[in-house]
Amino acid sequence: MAVQRYIFDVWSKTAESFGYERYDASVLEPSDLYKAKGAENEELVNEQTYTFTDRGDREVTLRPEMTPTVARMVAGRRRELSFPVRWYSIPNLFRYERPQRGRLREHWQLNCDMFGATDYTADVEIIALAHAIIKNFGANDTMFEIRINNKELAQETIKKIASEEGEYLDEEQIKKVIRLMDREAKLSAVEYLDQMSKIVPRDVANSLCETTLEEVSKLMENVPSYQNLIEIGKGLASLGIVTKLDSHLVRGFDYYTGTIFEIFDVSGQNNRAMLGGGRYDNLTEMFGGEPISGIGFGMGDVTMRDFLETHNLLNANSTAPTLMIIPTDPTQNLEAQKIAQQFRHNADIAVAVDISTKKIGKKISDASEKMVEYVLVVGEDEVRDNQYTLKHLHEDNKKTGDITTLVAHFRD
Ligand code: HAM
Repeated sequence: MAVQRYIFDVWSKTAESFGYERYDASVLEPSDLYKAKGAENEELVNEQTYTFTDRGDREVTLRPEMTPTVARMVAGRRRELSFPVRWYSIPNLFRYERPQRGRLREHWQLNCDMFGATDYTADVEIIALAHAIIKNFGANDTMFEIRINNKELAQETIKKIASEEGEYLDEEQIKKVIRLMDREAKLSAVEYLDQMSKIVPRDVANSLCETTLEEVSKLMENVPSYQNLIEIGKGLASLGIVTKLDSHLVRGFDYYTGTIFEIFDVSGQNNRAMLGGGRYDNLTEMFGGEPISGIGFGMGDVTMRDFLETHNLLNANSTAPTLMIIPTDPTQNLEAQKIAQQFRHNADIAVAVDISTKKIGKKISDASEKMVEYVLVVGEDEVRDNQYTLKHLHEDNKKTGDITTLVAHFRD
């Protein structure tokens, strides 16, 4: 929990420093919320979610992601909200996946989304926020890589490559190609080409698998989505943020329509994306009214922790109290509690009393092991003379005086 709280803290502080406001929702959703995005997603709902029938015969799902929920919330309150809306949340999500490094069946995910802004600088901002979060954990830019692409550009590129081979692909084929591209890293080159050939003619499959980024750039340089992507890359560069255009990045969810991005650890130890997101122009539309453009990302606690451990960025966070009061004998326990109250009220520090029956030496070494900073022994003599010794456990210093004097030590 100490590590998780630290991660959540950096997440929320950074999101708030960009003006994002926190929201939350119920973990339980009607299953239709995920099915409505198109028949293809039913597979995801049926195979990758915890879905069951409740006592009222309703089919419900433990949320596997936050984006449909937040899109519904924003669409439902569109008249009361002043756009652009900047929201963040740290929900726990449930996915029925095989547990493995970087993947669990329950994880916590920071979601940052902006609604009602179509200007390219919104894309710049959201990626800059993702970058700031990772930097605020103490990472440097050589430890991770931001990959960006555009969903529409990916679709147009696939069409164009096919047409260069004299073939026409329909929407359904393009969706399948995209879904396969999303799994490229998990397949061998042979398997990938093989599966591609099952969706499109062999010659198209060959060039889809072989086309390089340079070739894509040449083919697509006049397409608006390509120019938009270049503009975003330049905008980020002007903020000192380096990104890498990746024509193979497609993102699995069907709802993305524009910019898409992922962040990867480059150490080679963690091959799962730490973060993924993009622009979705019509997700709010399914809840009625005019569509409101959204852009955002999700970042998981499991992958975050793996990244921090790999790069030695997790300092031992201690949740131990600052001061441990140590009664020499059970008859001093209540007196020790009174003294603890005075420190809590007047010095504003975390204080606990060791009411165990261990010997004083053992109590002190226990406190030291727990990373408690100070100890104060309460025995018969101390109480009688109203003179106590505040001892720092990790630096060699002590201070003696009455409680008021010792409380002042913390205030100063
Ligand atoms: P996603 O790519 O499915 O996107 O997940 C985003 C991040 O959540 C991943 O990069 C990873 O860090 C973490 N994650 C996902 N599944 C698991 C799992 N089973 N165990 C541990 N961590 C996991 C989305 O969910 C989009 N809804 C994000 C988004 C928000 N797009 C726009 N706004």
